[in-house]
This record gives sequence, C-alpha cells and structure tokens, in this order.
Amino acid sequence: MNTKIFKTTKNDIEEASRLISQGEVVAFPTETVYGLGADATNEVAIKKVFIAKGRPADNPLIMTVADVSQLDKFVTVSEQAKKLMDKFWPGSLTIILPIKVNQVSMMVTGGLQTVAFRLPDNDATRELIRNAGRPIVGPSANTSGKPSPTTAQHVWHDMKNKIAGIVDDGPTQVGVESTVVDMSVVTPIILRPGAVTQQQLEEVLQVKVVDATSTESVASDVTPKAPGMKYRHYAPDKNVVMFDELDALDLKHILDLKDVVIAQDHVIDSMSLKNNQAWSLGETLETATEQLFAGLRFYDDEPQIATIYVQKMPPIGIGKAFNNRLGKAAGNQEFQF
Ligand code: TXA
Ligand code: MG
Repeated sequence: MNTKIFKTTKNDIEEASRLISQGEVVAFPTETVYGLGADATNEVAIKKVFIAKGRPADNPLIMTVADVSQLDKFVTVSEQAKKLMDKFWPGSLTIILPIKVNQVSMMVTGGLQTVAFRLPDNDATRELIRNAGRPIVGPSANTSGKPSPTTAQHVWHDMKNKIAGIVDDGPTQVGVESTVVDMSVVTPIILRPGAVTQQQLEEVLQVKVVDATSTESVASDVTPKAPGMKYRHYAPDKNVVMFDELDALDLKHILDLKDVVIAQDHVIDSMSLKNNQAWSLGETLETATEQLFAGLRFYDDEPQIATIYVQKMPPIGIGKAFNNRLGKAAGNQEFQF
C-alpha cells in the first residue's frame, strides 16, 4: 500500500476523511503525539489499526471526537466529567466513562465496560473527524512498544506502506501522550500522567484525585487498570539510562565514544559535549517534554550507539509525565557512579 502524505488544506483533509469513511487508516496530528485514525464504528477498519501497530487485542483504544455531542450515543456524561470537558477540551486529557450497553465495539473497549474519549487541540484533525461524521479510534501512531511519534516523519518511519495516509501538521507541541483519567469510578484515578496535572484536575472537580502512576508497581501478574500499562512502552532498542543533573560530571568521566546524552543545554555545556554526542532538551520542562521522544527515536536509529543517557526532570507539573515516559524507556535504570 502506498502511504499518501496529506497537508492540512481543505482538499487534502476532505480526501483523508473519505479514506477514513471507506474503512482505511489515516494518521492524524494532535497537540500531544500523532495518532492512528480509523472509523470507530467499523470493526474491519479497527482491525487494520491493530495490525499496523502490532498491538495486543486486549489493549483498548481511545475514541477521538471533534465535538462533545459525539459522545451521547456511546456514554452518559456525568456532571463531574462534564466539568473536565468544559475546562480541558480541546486538550490533552483523555476521560474514561462507563459505556451504554452494546453501543461500543469490543475491539475498542478490549472487553471493558468503559471507553476512553479525547477531543484533541488540532483544527485539521477535528475537521477530519467532522467530515468523516463519526468518532475515530486514536492510538498513538507508533509501532507497539516504540516511543510515540511527534512528527509526521516519525509516523512515516513506523507506518510507511502499512496505512493509507498521514496528515502532516508539523511537530506536535506537547510531545507526550494525554493525561488519562478514569471517571467511571467513585474516586477519579489518573492512569497516565500528562500535560493536565493531578492538581489541575482536583481544582476543577473539587475532590481528591488519585495518581495511580506515582505509587503503583506495574507487575505483569496484576490486572492493571489501564491495560496499556502492562506492556513494555516507549522503549527504544538501545540501552537507556536515566541520570540526575547533580551526577552530570561523574557521568562525563565514564562516557564512552559510543554513548550519547539527552539533556538540558546548561547540562550539555557543563559536560562540554560535542554536538554529535548530545541532543538538546532546551531549558524548560515544556521544551524537554516536547523533545524527549524525538531524541530517543533519533539515537535509536544510529547503529554505532550503545547507551543513551537521559537527564531526569524535577517531578513538578509536566515533569511528572516526562519522568514517567523516561522511566518506561529506561526500564527504570538509573546512572550510578
Ligand atoms: O495523547 C494521546 O492520548 C494519544 C493521541 C494520539 O491522542 N493517543 C494515545 O493512545 O496515546 P494510546 O492508545 O497509545 O494510549 C491510550 C491508553 C492506553 O494505555 C490504553 O490502555 C488506555 O489508554 N485506555 C484506553 N481505553 C481505556 C479504558 N477503557 N480503560 C482503561 N484504560 C484505557
Ligand atoms: Mg501508545
């Protein structure tokens, strides 16, 4: 299959929407990472998404919508969930709700009685969904087990000749996947940290929100709340090791020519690394998060590289999401001198 690259012009989006209506898979941009889109009401189309990603069938998919009205057919929206939608949509929050009986395919829910919804902050994608006239499934557009794609080129790398098209809207802004919050239970639970923080959720809901990712150990013999959490995630083929800024000089001493560093500019400078041995995370938590997956993907494709050392961020705001994804990529390996 020839994968067609679309721009965000009206004509291109219309053509991409037609492919989706015809049951094809088209990758779409969001503010977090690129997703793999297919008609969420067409099981033949959904099957193609699982095949393109190589994704286990019991890992449920997010339903991606263009407008809140698209939810009514599938779920009953509680007052609390409505508050979150009003405040954070369009944006980087995925909300899990109980489904109306028989209204959502088992291929979307993975057999659960709940479904995850997201309304991304990207005009082209919302137009794509509106034209298609129904929600689209939207897992990240990477091969299962790889870091999520933050550019159309990353999607091309993983998906060329496997899907019908890619809508290219340039690099994504946030760089890690949305916060996932389960609103189907009495106490809301964060199943995946992202740009929308626990504190922001608590402010809007005026109740305690539990962060399952800060305490929970994700053992494979325990049934995890987010089925996706049990799989190896965001992991490059290379050895990835996390390090603390305070250990930068110790790290410099043991660094081999085959090793590279992903870190903030001032840390790269303090280690006097050459350009070709370092990937910049900029200086802020936001730029770091935006660049993390791009850096991992870049070095993962360089055959001569042995170990990728990545600087941890302070666990505040989106720094929690950064450290969560880095921890998965590194299998929680920490640098020790
Ligand atoms: O930012 C994002 O959310 C991106 C963009 C493309 O929208 N999408 C994304 O989808 O990250 P995916 O499928 O790669 O990750 C969704 C996560 C998975 O860990 C999945 O297991 C979990 O959400 N999930 C989906 N439906 C669920 C449900 N009903 N209950 C619990 N977890 C669910
Ligand atoms: Mg994913």
